[in-house]
Amino acid sequence: MTQTLSDRVVGVLGTPDAMAKAGAARAVASDWRAGVIPDIGGTAPGDRPKRPAKPELLRPREMPRRGKAQSEAGRIALLHALAHIELNAIDLAADILVRFPDAGMPMDFYNDWLTVLDEEAKHFQLLSVRLGEIGAAYGDLPAHDGLWQAAQDTSDDLLARLAIVPLVLEARGLDVTPTMIKSLRNAKDDDSAAVLEVIYRDEIGHVGIGRKWFEHVCPGDPVAMWQRLVNERFKGGLKAPFNDAARAEAGFGVAYYKALAG
Ligand SMILES: [Fe+2]
Ligand SMILES: [Fe+2]
Repeated sequence: MTQTLSDRVVGVLGTPDAMAKAGAARAVASDWRAGVIPDIGGTAPGDRPKRPAKPELLRPREMPRRGKAQSEAGRIALLHALAHIELNAIDLAADILVRFPDAGMPMDFYNDWLTVLDEEAKHFQLLSVRLGEIGAAYGDLPAHDGLWQAAQDTSDDLLARLAIVPLVLEARGLDVTPTMIKSLRNAKDDDSAAVLEVIYRDEIGHVGIGRKWFEHVCPGDPVAMWQRLVNERFKGGLKAPFNDAARAEAGFGVAYYKALAG
């Protein structure tokens, strides 16, 4: 029997091996674009995606401090941490496609989040290849176990998911990535910097997609609603400085977030 989109996406979540997960994600996106997946379907995801045996997952306060990007060990630690974030991002993009079947979202919603899914998988692949070039691999170092928390905290409500995952966490990525690119360039690691440039450009698009669908789903004033949801659902608080230019490019203007800056 031909698999539906949700069968395939739940299959991505259920794939433990990281490279196989990325490959499965990209295959779903390309098959969707080619029109060979007949319909969306309604297969439900489990609570947590499957992950590889390595890396070992540690609580945030148990994580060793990362060295400076100037040292090779520091660069490996940075790329490894980013690969781990991208692996989570694959599962987050997959999860939003299948977690809220009752929201009645239009076809364009699926097109957009499959683009995000494909790009997160590409980001993981690029970082894995780059780690290999400098003598390391994803799984070599311990990684942060807190990243799925935001998904669990918002698994009951699509609007809250959109408020927190793309518009807090991915937007935060836009704030911090230019500094990482600069320090990699200073360390003469232009190949790693080039990978982060690709990721940075794509992530502006992801924040834009998040903002678009947040405003689509939001019943009232989106700015007031977003601020309310961030206060209710996001414990960390927002951290300045913000990358206003990149956020604006995503249509996510200062009116949304300036009032919440800690
Ligand atoms: Fe990404
Ligand atoms: Fe992203």
